[in-house]
Amino acid sequence: AGTESNLQTPSGCPVHAAPGGCPVSTQAQAFDPFAAEYLANPAAALQWSRDQEPVFFSPQLGYWVVSRYEDVKAVFRDNVTFSPSIALERVVPPSDEAMETLKRYNYQMNRTLVNEDEPAHMERRRALMEHFLPENLAAKEDMIRQLTRQKVDAFVDSGRVDLVEAMLWEIPLTVALHFLGVPKEDMDALKEFSVAHTVNTWGKPSPEQQLKVADAVGRFWQYAGTVLEKMRREPDGTGWMHHAIRMNAEIPEVVTDSYLHSMMMAIIVAGHETTSLASTNALKLLLSDRLVWERICKTPELIPNAIEECLRLEGSVVAWRRRATRDTEIAGVAIPAEAKLLIVSASANHDSRHFENGDFLDIYRDSAAEHLTFGYGSHQCMGKNFARLEMRIFIEELSRRLPHMRLSEDQQFSYLPNLAFRGPQQLLVEWDPALNPERSDPALVDRRVSFPIGAPSSKEIARTVRVADITEAADGIRILHLEDPDGLALPAWSPGAHVDLVAGEFSRKYSLCGNPSDPGYTIAVLREDKGRGGSRFIHDKVTKGMTLRLRGPKNYFRLEEEADHHLLIAGGIGITPIIAMADRLKQLGRHYTVHYCGRKRTAMAFAERLLAEHGARAVLHVSEEGSGADLASIVAGCGKSGARIHACGPARLLDSLGELCANLPEGTLRSELFVTDASGAAQPGDTAFEIELEDSDLNLTVPAGQTLLEVVRAAGIDVPSDCEEGLCGSCEVRVLDGGVDHRDRVLSASERAEGGRMMACCSRAKGQKLRLAL
Ligand code: HEM
Ligand code: FES
Repeated sequence: AGTESNLQTPSGCPVHAAPGGCPVSTQAQAFDPFAAEYLANPAAALQWSRDQEPVFFSPQLGYWVVSRYEDVKAVFRDNVTFSPSIALERVVPPSDEAMETLKRYNYQMNRTLVNEDEPAHMERRRALMEHFLPENLAAKEDMIRQLTRQKVDAFVDSGRVDLVEAMLWEIPLTVALHFLGVPKEDMDALKEFSVAHTVNTWGKPSPEQQLKVADAVGRFWQYAGTVLEKMRREPDGTGWMHHAIRMNAEIPEVVTDSYLHSMMMAIIVAGHETTSLASTNALKLLLSDRLVWERICKTPELIPNAIEECLRLEGSVVAWRRRATRDTEIAGVAIPAEAKLLIVSASANHDSRHFENGDFLDIYRDSAAEHLTFGYGSHQCMGKNFARLEMRIFIEELSRRLPHMRLSEDQQFSYLPNLAFRGPQQLLVEWDPALNPERSDPALVDRRVSFPIGAPSSKEIARTVRVADITEAADGIRILHLEDPDGLALPAWSPGAHVDLVAGEFSRKYSLCGNPSDPGYTIAVLREDKGRGGSRFIHDKVTKGMTLRLRGPKNYFRLEEEADHHLLIAGGIGITPIIAMADRLKQLGRHYTVHYCGRKRTAMAFAERLLAEHGARAVLHVSEEGSGADLASIVAGCGKSGARIHACGPARLLDSLGELCANLPEGTLRSELFVTDASGAAQPGDTAFEIELEDSDLNLTVPAGQTLLEVVRAAGIDVPSDCEEGLCGSCEVRVLDGGVDHRDRVLSASERAEGGRMMACCSRAKGQKLRLAL
């Protein structure tokens, strides 16, 4: 079960019953998802796992725990190997008395959508998707806004309120019932029921609590049945459950009777408890950082992405469950058939391997929506855009009308012991009503900002930075020092990270090359007269004091710090990430050599600094001076020594290195292309091709002028992307059948030869058709 360190011989491991015991580490053995430390901050409590043992068996829970982003996503993605059937199973088996109670109510919670296997799941999901489509959700906006305004009107002059009690619990429930078409009666009973349902399913009730909970769950089951019968008698009723009832009549083999009753109960909870807790978490987080809150109040356009960042950092669903249907592996760890998995999205969402500086709240993070709080793949939350819509309205109304609101200091946040759901029970806020802006500007109450339904587009998210200083670094190379105009901290970064600078109509990538602990960023820009114009703009038009927009930082070129020896190779302006890596390795006291190749010394930025600060570890290769690099001798000996080579430069340099390192152990060479003239996706002579999407059961055509990514997105399927130039690997999709015309710089020759993967932003079909796991 993971690393060999801290071995002990616990009881309870179902896998390693062999003599000598089971290799469960001390930390794995101590893991308790109901302990106060974990409930307070699940991501921090699993930091050790992300770092040392990303897949481990928890004897206390009887589950395998998965904590890294890529692994959690891979489990979500493969719902055949990892069945969702246990998603609603009780974590703590009920006592005999509790079972008796449930039986008395004839409780028979069964498959819904979230725990249904294929092929039944997809057929049902498609039959029930219509109400979640953007146009239908947009029609709910006025209703949600009106409810929110009524609630805010009621407390805006009071100066202090518990937001959970005053609005965040009730509005999502009212909205969910409206969406479902369920009569809005018995709201108090529903509160009791839904808490009981979450405790029953994901909680750890004591034996006494179990009885109470079983009674409430039993009554909830009966209530759901009664409401369902009532709704069946209204054939023209509106809302999603009425639609499901009609589908039950039309296609009873797909939308079954048992499904209807179970879903009736599950969806009331899925539709409101999740959103209520997520809104509470988000407001708590945003109000905890005054500068962030003020930025949102001033710039409401930032709200959609701020919400994604809150869902990433403090989601309301922190973990989900799957069951292995066969012997398999996750990140090299053998997982036996029938193993139960706890996939901790809260931990994955903080994973700095995927999210640069993962614990930091960055409302400008353009990858925030890649969080796994809504799950991923074919079961991904159907209500995600509904939840987003509600959360946006809450935060927009509150930040506009009560920008001076603060978290009350006299409160402790407590979290119910729960494996899946997380959010504080109350959120006390206060303000001085005399300062309410609507007292001097009554028209403010009716203002609104509407956002398009769905995840914010990463292309629209950019922070404003001011050019604090400009210096000339070498012939044709300028260094820009950038900072936040209001002193808001710019996110920390790691060597190899880059930002996208948006200058005028251009967006170009620049590696960060200053000191990571500086409050601002430093980039070096080479003037490219033959480029697309971005660098000319920066050289000719950008002046000190000007504001620019930038996205990031992101890191696709991480320094593998742990190696025995490091070889760093830079060509030309490719020195920027390499010098940051050299600085880091020096700071860590690692063994490294850095080679810097250029045509002439006066055009080599940072050459002097490199020599001054890295002394004998730095070697300059200047072709004009006759000291050009002999790459073969530079890399010689790397295979034996457990070395890592990090290289950045033009394609010619990287291609030569690729050939020289072809026989070295896999992963020895890591390189980043310095793109001088990104090709873009379209090429003359492109033709249309068909795609068959296995998970979504859709057939689509990718026309000549469009990318696969664009076509798939237009069909409502979320595929993350970043560079959209084949450089970053974010848009990878699995290919099940068909030849691929690869146009990316991500996949190695052997990965291409193996088949099975492609980058959706740029690559196309070789033939007429591709079958994809989407
Ligand atoms: C599924 C989270 C709001 C309806 C899920 C899943 C998660 C989740 C983790 C399982 C995903 C997977 O297995 O890959 C959330 C969160 C919400 C939220 C964090 C709020 C912030 C809603 C709302 C609705 C809803 C408002 C309905 C009105 C559903 C449904 C499924 C689902 C129907 C099952 C989809 C399937 O299995 O095909 N949700 N949810 N959710 N959610 Fe949500
Ligand atoms: Fe970067 Fe496709 S989005 S490779």
